[in-house]
Amino acid sequence: MPPGIADRIVVIEGDITKQKMDAIVNAANPSLMGGGGVDGAIHRAAGPELLKECRGLGGCRTGEAKITWGYRLFARFVIHTVGPVWKGGNAGEDELLESCYRNSLALAELGNLHTIAFPAISTGAYGFPLERAARIAITTVLRFITYHPAIEKVVLVCHGNAAYDLYRDIMEGEISSNRDYGMAQALFSHLSMIEMTHSIRFRNRIEIVKALAPAVKNDTYALSAGISLNTWVAMAGVQGEVTVPREILDRIRESLGPSSTV
Ligand code: APR
Repeated sequence: MPPGIADRIVVIEGDITKQKMDAIVNAANPSLMGGGGVDGAIHRAAGPELLKECRGLGGCRTGEAKITWGYRLFARFVIHTVGPVWKGGNAGEDELLESCYRNSLALAELGNLHTIAFPAISTGAYGFPLERAARIAITTVLRFITYHPAIEKVVLVCHGNAAYDLYRDIMEGEISSNRDYGMAQALFSHLSMIEMTHSIRFRNRIEIVKALAPAVKNDTYALSAGISLNTWVAMAGVQGEVTVPREILDRIRESLGPSSTV
């Protein structure tokens, strides 16, 4: 049984510098030369070598992310990202904040890191309203981990009980209404079974699940999709690394339409 959603995204109250994760995320500024808030706390805990490495990075644009070693921190790596300064909400702040979370997760996955902790990016000195930022953080992380099983655990570290209570309430609401996660995990399980049966590996696993998940309403639909995929693999006589063509995915998704029965 794949890990449940509640095992892979958690909210805690505490100090991000104390988190024993593969990476912790720093809410930095474009210079990457340190600052106050969580930036200051991370640099203090990591020691001077962190600033030295940051000097060589050439800064970071808002919404983007760069990685360094963690030095004296418990975390092996620090992913520095620059959140948007709040300007009233009509200057693309939501999209930029979403990019901070998505790019940091993508960088962690690229580095074969499996556990990552985030602070509440932009909600301090940058003035981003906490509830709005929390919703963006939670929905962006949920969407990413739904389709990227390599990220095993994301910890959202809140500083103070008020932030923690807010994050927890939003998290409970998002998880209870989230349907895609369970269906995506069921599809990943079927892909794994097909790979074992035929001694193959799907090169475009994430694309396959993203293409089929929206039409998969329950486990029966997931099984139907698995059977269709298995049939294609058997008929195509494919071996080794396999990329399922887009038109096959579209055909399977259409077969799952409302009238499909198993
Ligand atoms: N652990 C976890 N969260 C923390 C910690 C900590 N040790 N210290 C502060 N926070 C929280 C704050 O309470 C806030 O909710 O991190 C969130 C982000 O606040 P800031 O650190 O002020 O970051 P941000 O709002 O993104 O502003 C970035 O501030 O420190 C400077 O160099 C930084 O210029 C940049 C700007």
